[in-house]
Amino acid sequence: MTNPYDDLAADYDEDIYPLNEREFVEPTVEAIAQLTPGRTILELAVGTGRIAIPLAKRGFQVTGIDISPAMLQQLKQKAGEHLVETIAGDMSQIQLNREFDLAYLVFNGITYLLTLEEQVACFKNAASHLRSGGVFIVETFIPRVDQILKDDTAPYALEEEYVGFDKYDRMKQLLTSYQFDLSKEHPSSFQTTHRYVWPSELELMGQLAGFEKLTEWGSWEGEPLTQDSDNVIMIWRKR
Ligand SMILES: C[S@@+](CC[C@H](N)C(=O)[O-])C[C@H]1O[C@@H](n2cnc3c(N)ncnc32)[C@H](O)[C@@H]1O
Repeated sequence: MTNPYDDLAADYDEDIYPLNEREFVEPTVEAIAQLTPGRTILELAVGTGRIAIPLAKRGFQVTGIDISPAMLQQLKQKAGEHLVETIAGDMSQIQLNREFDLAYLVFNGITYLLTLEEQVACFKNAASHLRSGGVFIVETFIPRVDQILKDDTAPYALEEEYVGFDKYDRMKQLLTSYQFDLSKEHPSSFQTTHRYVWPSELELMGQLAGFEKLTEWGSWEGEPLTQDSDNVIMIWRKR
């Protein structure tokens, strides 16, 4: 199966705007910088380096894995000379035979693995790339029960130049997001499929991988996880 990010790479930074703006990036970078017990950091699904490059600019030694060579190419163009080490590969399987002080998987990265087995393998793989006492951070969206239970598909965005809607497969726990961009001369569309996960599943995956949970947040500013949280940030330590 081809990775949709190979086609999206050239426009990715523009498409996710403003999430690549300093005010959105900085809280994540600051939290990771505070949490890491050392200088070596591994980002799983690094993409174009939205978080990895600012961390490297702070002096951390950052390595990024991504399955899409096209996304890594964008990262290299932005990062300039060797700021972030990039490695192409599948985050649930690749073995670098190195241990880092901290590893992180943000912006719904875990949901790109479409089976429970792959997600658990990813947690175990992250653990195998951490030294004892190393920290692992995962950030992902919290599934919306009201949306999952709907049988009709209503668009979440219906604007003159942009239409988006999600479809759910409740048995396989999959969400496919269809997006249509009508703003350009040649309208474009893309779809991404995610295996959504519940905070309780993340907790179990962490346990299966041998992590000790340190805390969970509802935002990068460290707000508590509540009923109203849109995202969960879970933080573990390797025993
Ligand atoms: C939404 S982007 C996030 C990129 C970056 N972490 C950020 O915060 O901007 C998701 C990334 O996951 C990558 N990806 C998807 N499946 C992957 C896998 N199995 N292994 C490694 N990377 C993967 C995609 O190529 C894409 O670059």
